[in-house]
Amino acid sequence: MQQNCDYLVIGSGIAGLFFALKAAPRGKVLILTKKNKAESNTNYAQGGIAAVTSGEDSVELHVQDTLRAGAGLCKEDVVRTIVQEGPARIRDLLELGIRFTEREIPEAKGRKELDLGREGGHSKRRILHAKDTTGQEVERTLLETVQKHPNIQILENHIAIDLITTGKLGLPEPNRCVGVYALDKLSGEVRAFGARAVVLASGGSGKVYLYTTNPDIATGDGAAMAYRAGAPIANMEFVQFHPTCLYHPKAKSFLISEAVRGEGAILKTPDGERFMPKYHPMGELAPRDIVARAIDAEMKRTGAEHVLLDITHKPAPFIMSRFPNIYQTCLQYGYDMTKEPIPVVPAAHYQCGGVLTDVDGRTAIPGLYAVGETACTGLHGANRLASNSLLEALVCAHRAACVLGEEELPPVDFQIPPWQSGDAVNPDELVVIHHLWNEIRRMMWNYVGIVRTDKRLQRACRRIRFLQEEIQEYYWDFIITSDLVELRNLALTAELIVACAMRRPESRGLHYNLDHPEPDPAWAQKDTVVRAEAPPPPAGEKDPPQQAGRRSGQSGQGLC
Ligand code: FAD
Ligand code: SIN
Repeated sequence: MQQNCDYLVIGSGIAGLFFALKAAPRGKVLILTKKNKAESNTNYAQGGIAAVTSGEDSVELHVQDTLRAGAGLCKEDVVRTIVQEGPARIRDLLELGIRFTEREIPEAKGRKELDLGREGGHSKRRILHAKDTTGQEVERTLLETVQKHPNIQILENHIAIDLITTGKLGLPEPNRCVGVYALDKLSGEVRAFGARAVVLASGGSGKVYLYTTNPDIATGDGAAMAYRAGAPIANMEFVQFHPTCLYHPKAKSFLISEAVRGEGAILKTPDGERFMPKYHPMGELAPRDIVARAIDAEMKRTGAEHVLLDITHKPAPFIMSRFPNIYQTCLQYGYDMTKEPIPVVPAAHYQCGGVLTDVDGRTAIPGLYAVGETACTGLHGANRLASNSLLEALVCAHRAACVLGEEELPPVDFQIPPWQSGDAVNPDELVVIHHLWNEIRRMMWNYVGIVRTDKRLQRACRRIRFLQEEIQEYYWDFIITSDLVELRNLALTAELIVACAMRRPESRGLHYNLDHPEPDPAWAQKDTVVRAEAPPPPAGEKDPPQQAGRRSGQSGQGLC
């Protein structure tokens, strides 16, 4: 049965929840989320939110730090807007009851102020945090407020499959986005959801890589859906690898926050040699791309499987109270970080590119917005400054809700054709999905990782095209499942990354290609933008309406 609303939000991380709260006074909001409502990258954020809240800091300094990290590719007007509006959005969070960590003001006994952390690339302490579990605190605060709002409904275990546009439906009106088809994972039913506007807040795509700090939800669904609907996707080559993920066979994706280095931790080779000063004057607090590449180079040089992160020179009570979650988790895996260094490796962490939007979340398709990690606003350029993503999500979600409140978007007052499974049958061999999933992730890690070459990219391109063919076949032949939806998106996201990487013949920020090791001034300020060619109308007729559901997407074939 079709369900309509004013604003349909895909995702319940910081971007989706904050948008919902801001939009709810103006209309009915429905949030679809593919697992339980708290499961998101947001929930795992550790370091905090970068914003100018101290008299010793300034908007200009934060802007300059962001531009420097972005390696010449940030959109300066977007950077200025987001940094400028950050403090107001932090006040919003404080009003909602978020509990950021405070500290005693040394010269005014008994009085407290917000404690500010420091991370790589920041010239000042400016990271608001809730010890080392900031994301959990953000998610808790937003979910508690959202769940009390009469205008907001959340449907868990609903995975969006594809966007619905009037163009795809063959309606005689200018193309706009009017909803999504989504799979109810519990019942197996695919339902149509109609809306005046759809807001993609579906997060990033770390799962495209074998090793990642991201939870399982991060399969690039937003960029993949938007691409299939015809929206431009930009800068996907800029995948941020976090320098310090715990190295342990059983610790799945556990991040060791950059804030640990912010408090003085030192990176060493396994035989105890400090190496960062030879790579950058800021040492361990250099921008993330530089630290991740330095670790990669040291691991390759020494043949070691990891490097070490050492904070043992700090007092144990400080470490335990500032990083309680990291301390306890490391202890669980046999490392007491107050007494010994922790083994760490880089892992895929953040998608700097995504669905091309302006600073208000507008995409090129009317009625389709994108906010948070799935969007590419131009804030991060070629490399995101630490803790700028939660900030971006807050500011852009707020701005999207404001502009949507002013737009006259028509309601969906027509019946969307129900999803048709055609003659698809139940998949007989689930091992195929598992195998393809692993193959993509390993291939991306080996060929499209921290350091790239033209040859590796070409190899990746050939592999991904071949895998895409198999996945498309599987997609059409078998009844849709959540794993299949994710696999299809993962493969397309991988192809988008490879395609963008092949289009940039230089090294800049996070994209480092040994065959073009220097930045090329001709590429400064140039985004790599890819867009699906409009599907040719079938000779003389459109897809019959009953086919529109199943065939609502194009594959990424031929992209790279
Ligand atoms: P998410 O929080 O990832 O939420 C995405 C939501 O979309 C989820 O609810 C997901 O289930 C849902 N979803 C996805 N696809 C679909 C679909 N097809 N249908 C329905 N629902 C869907 N950034 C900082 O600024 N500071 C930090 O300290 C920090 N620490 C981090 C630590 C870790 C371990 C990680 C992984 C990231 C960290 N980041 C940090 C990055 C930051 O957490 C994310 O960029 C940010 O939380 C993204 O928010 P979002 O709302 O865009 O997406
Ligand atoms: C961290 O705590 O190191 C993550 C910060 C970020 O990704 O911005």
